[in-house]
Amino acid sequence: MLGAVQLGLLAACVVLFVPMGMAGWHLSRNKMLFFSCALFITLAVGVHLTPYFPSISAFLSASEKLKKSDASDLLNGSWVVVAGDSQSRLMVVSLLELIMGSEGVEKIKGDLFKRHSDYSVMVEEIGMRLDFVWAPYVANLTEFMTRYKGSKDFPDIVMMGAGLWDMLHVNNVTEFGVSLRVLRDNVLSLLPVSSSLDAGDGGVSEPKPSHLLHLFWVGMPTLITSMLNTAEKKERMTTAMFSSYDNELAGSNLLRQSGGPLLKLDIGLLSEFCGPHCTSDGMHYDEVVYNTALQIMLNALLIESNQKPQ
Ligand SMILES: *[C@@H]1O[C@H](CO)[C@@H](O)[C@H](O)[C@H]1NC(C)=O
Ligand SMILES: *[C@@H]1O[C@H](CO)[C@@H](O)[C@H](O)[C@H]1NC(C)=O
Ligand SMILES: *[C@@H]1O[C@H](CO)[C@@H](O)[C@H](O)[C@H]1NC(C)=O
Repeated sequence: MLGAVQLGLLAACVVLFVPMGMAGWHLSRNKMLFFSCALFITLAVGVHLTPYFPSISAFLSASEKLKKSDASDLLNGSWVVVAGDSQSRLMVVSLLELIMGSEGVEKIKGDLFKRHSDYSVMVEEIGMRLDFVWAPYVANLTEFMTRYKGSKDFPDIVMMGAGLWDMLHVNNVTEFGVSLRVLRDNVLSLLPVSSSLDAGDGGVSEPKPSHLLHLFWVGMPTLITSMLNTAEKKERMTTAMFSSYDNELAGSNLLRQSGGPLLKLDIGLLSEFCGPHCTSDGMHYDEVVYNTALQIMLNALLIESNQKPQ
């Protein structure tokens, strides 16, 4: 069962942060107000209906749920790149299931889940290219971003996320903070000079139209320490460690929520709503969590694609 309070919190976050994120994409103030109101109303309806529904899918049915045809229109001809750990890979599964249906995804799951490897697929029907880049550490994400330095080709949509491997194998929050800042500087150096997010390094970077940059951060899931499947994980991935990592992320200015370049998809909050019955290893959750995060991402893109040049 969902806590209405938590859902209200999510609603508040979406209402606040989605439009704030849009502001970085030069949405006019009127449009921002309009979308804030629209989101607020949809979410308010969602919150008031919760007592009658058992799961987050209820939240989804009350908000703007994009179906296959909508997503196909939105992503027609796009190049989508997802980089990160297994959480990011679960976002790929959700996206492909929405576009190709579950039978289509069953066929490619073997390749996609080949341990620790990259994966590419072209969805011919809508001319969408999707690349998954295995990048379990934040340092790997930095390496991934530097591929695009000086390159004219940049994906239309990038989703990335890491942190769990840093927590498990490095287990030093100071070093995590350092690698997040390095990543942030690398992402910023790829952004257009005219952007308000300009790092201030005086226009050395190639100008790119800002509408090409749809950057999302796949947040870490809520960890249920007692359910983790190795002794090492139980020892290192504690609630206290998780919150210090999460605070480090918030303080790194990587996310739009703190003036940075990436819009966070809050897997932590969504997985917390879903709770222990949505996971068997305390870390990887049922697809409803990632499907919801995907809907939040698509809604953000929809708002963006609706606007006309001023
Ligand atoms: C994708 O876009 C192209 C041209 O913009 C159009 O011809 C095609 O019908 C679209 N396909 C889908 C599945 O929407
Ligand atoms: C990711 O980074 C780690 C540590 O920096 C490195 O050892 C590893 O080879 C990298 N993996 C990939 C896939 O780039
Ligand atoms: C964490 O990393 C920092 C910087 O590399 C280092 O100074 C510090 O000693 C490390 N802390 C622990 C507990 O290993």
